Amino acid sequence: MQNKIIEIKIPQEKSKNYPIIIGSNLLENAFSLIKQNTKAKKFLIVTDENVDRLYYDKFIKNFDNEAIVQKIVLPAGESSKSFENYKLILDKALEFKLERKDAIIALGGGVVGDISGFAAATYLRGIDFIQVPTTLLAQVDSSVGGKVAINHFAGKNLIGAFYQPKLVLADINSLKTLPIRELKTGLAEVLKYAFIEKTASLTKTSDFMEFLSNNKKNVYDLDIEIISQIIEYSCKLKADVVSQDEKEQGLRAILNFGHTIAHSIEKCTNYTLFTHGEAVAIGIKGAFYIAKEMKLITGDYFDKVIILIGQYDLNYNIPKNIEVKDLHQSMFADKKVQSGKIRFILPVNIAEVDIFNNIQEKIILNSLKNLY
Ligand code: NAD
Ligand code: GLY
Repeated sequence: MQNKIIEIKIPQEKSKNYPIIIGSNLLENAFSLIKQNTKAKKFLIVTDENVDRLYYDKFIKNFDNEAIVQKIVLPAGESSKSFENYKLILDKALEFKLERKDAIIALGGGVVGDISGFAAATYLRGIDFIQVPTTLLAQVDSSVGGKVAINHFAGKNLIGAFYQPKLVLADINSLKTLPIRELKTGLAEVLKYAFIEKTASLTKTSDFMEFLSNNKKNVYDLDIEIISQIIEYSCKLKADVVSQDEKEQGLRAILNFGHTIAHSIEKCTNYTLFTHGEAVAIGIKGAFYIAKEMKLITGDYFDKVIILIGQYDLNYNIPKNIEVKDLHQSMFADKKVQSGKIRFILPVNIAEVDIFNNIQEKIILNSLKNLY
């Protein structure tokens, strides 16, 4: 397949613009693309133990002899997005004498991308950063748009920055080794785009839900054309939003659709029971229940959404030992809380969402009860 390129454009600061390249066999041809987008001579590659085993050799093979490379391999999983590993990356960068013009490369999923991006943003006040996402979630969401972060005991992603990469290289072939659970986790973020599409897209389209509904089998078969279209379209929607509101002063919050509930589920289950995408799938459903209770959407639309979520096999339940009131309480630790008010992104029409700050506690609690 031909590579597809989406440009992320930051109108206020054009030097921050960068391409997302989507293709097959990109990993083994990455270096020439990397060279076109950075002047770095030294590269610190951050990966995790699974991706290291599967792809590091293939990836590094095509780097030329002049490139000086070191790598850090983190344990796989959310708990790696920690202060300790952040320090480890900085220590390694200092030991390796990375300079301002050098680069950190994230080779892996959203965990590796988020933590190495935060290290790149802060090391020497910022060095070049390249994202090579290898999970669907990272290819459609986390590698794009410049949010980088680590976790704190008090909540997820509480320590971070907006720091755009110089290049994103999404190799669809790498998804072939992705466990089905991780594929589904990425699909939850893909469905998110379908539910926010019209509000997100500059052209005000609303066809993505139907496209997904017609292509479930192709998606699960990893049909390369369909998957590449999905990644391309998701990135395009994200690019539209980020170009209008890079630092989440307003519109960008819609990308957090489903995340208010998701983050509190992740926190209440110690980031171990659900993947991020699984929690997002529950959170999306929660947002639809709230909207239904508030009569923001029609029953028909609600039913259609629930069918699509079921069709993609993304029905998960909150375990009974997690109390509704604890879930609600955890929402106050979210970054999105403003003046003590929890912020929800809620559907208001087909593929349209809006931002709400003042939802009655009773409505939130009642809606959460449907998620068990
Ligand atoms: P992850 O990075 O933990 O990857 C999931 C699992 O897949 C890991 O075990 C990993 O080793 C494995 N893996 C990665 N690529 C593989 C491949 N090609 N084949 C086989 N196994 C592979 O998780 P994720 O779902 O990619 O990312 C989740 C993280 O992303 C969370 O921390 C979340 O907060 C963050 N996130 C950030 C943003 C953002 O805008 N920055 C957006 C969404 C999510
Ligand atoms: N994943 C949410 C954002 O990038 O804003």
